[in-house]
Amino acid sequence: MKSTVVTGIGELTTNDPGLGVLTDAALVLEGERVAWVGPARLAPVADTEVDVAGRAVLPGWVDSHTHLVFAGDRTAEFEARMAGKPYRAGGIAVTVQATRQATDTQLAANLARHVSEAIRQGTTCLETKTGYGLNVADEARSARIAAQVADEVTYLGAHLVPPGEQAESYVDSVCGEMLDAVLPSVRWADVFCEDGAFDEEQSERVLRAAEAKGLGLRVHGNQLGYGPGVRLAVRHGAASVDHCTYLTDDDVDALAASDTVATLLPACDLSTRQPLAPARRLLDAGATVALASNANPGSSYTTSMAFCVATAVLQMGLTVREAVWAATAGGARALRRDTGDGAVGALRVGARADVHVLDAPSATHLAYRPGVPLTWAVWRRGRRVV
Ligand code: NIG
Repeated sequence: MKSTVVTGIGELTTNDPGLGVLTDAALVLEGERVAWVGPARLAPVADTEVDVAGRAVLPGWVDSHTHLVFAGDRTAEFEARMAGKPYRAGGIAVTVQATRQATDTQLAANLARHVSEAIRQGTTCLETKTGYGLNVADEARSARIAAQVADEVTYLGAHLVPPGEQAESYVDSVCGEMLDAVLPSVRWADVFCEDGAFDEEQSERVLRAAEAKGLGLRVHGNQLGYGPGVRLAVRHGAASVDHCTYLTDDDVDALAASDTVATLLPACDLSTRQPLAPARRLLDAGATVALASNANPGSSYTTSMAFCVATAVLQMGLTVREAVWAATAGGARALRRDTGDGAVGALRVGARADVHVLDAPSATHLAYRPGVPLTWAVWRRGRRVV
């Protein structure tokens, strides 16, 4: 197996509690794994050496929430929103129509283009969802196309009741025929539990059906107002509840007492003119927080995890360390990929060799220099991709 030693690391964020943040460090990658981490003076010899000349190194971003199997564009909706029109779940139907009309090749190419855009910015592990097909055939092909590219695929047949359909019969399909059709391609199921999408009872049916088929659970909740999403997610032991923009004290306490990660999507909060999610309250209460891009054509059309980190620091009261952890190890926890051989979101022996080198001496520059493209090099599964 080929090995690479990365030397001259000015600041190495490992996300390993035993190693912490190292200065003057080195890292050895062997095959798809990290083989050694430690002080530069003790670094072993490897087949290749890459000297990063004092730059900062961190685990690749783990983007645990995207919706990238889509076609079409919603610029007009965005412009209307910036002119004062509120964001509504109903906009999803516009993308559903465009997605159904696209060929498999067009959908796969659009997905690949966005994934490659994410990788160029340091994302090395990415989840994506169905949810713009909303019938058996289109959800199944969305899942198939996603599984060819994404690290994790989530079934979101319960994204919206398609216009003209009855909610109860649509939920029957989501829990029955549609679920069976996507099953070979997905690990997770999700439901958009919100006014204008699915109510608590309908959401519960979806989660129960998915659980019975052995899928892990995720929930979109508390995005556009207070509601039952967070408590539903916690009650069902979901790996993550995503958005969490409107939280009561009971919601925060429930998350803090659970294993459910609160995945915050600051780019979405900004793009939909919602308040920013209460990240500081969650962390102070003891909840686990992840940051993700929510890349999608409606509510958050960005793949930039660096933007999310900068926003979390500049606007949400997180320290740089907390924000970087949430966008790497937090995402890994939300996807239950944070432990064992090949874990992501950390740089320790045995972890996946997913490495992000910044063209900066410290991770602080992610917030200190917001909007500046700081990605200098990326290894994904031990292969240099940037
Ligand atoms: O996470 N909340 C629901 N789904 C997406 C929005 C999708 C869209 O507007 O197209 C989200 O924000």
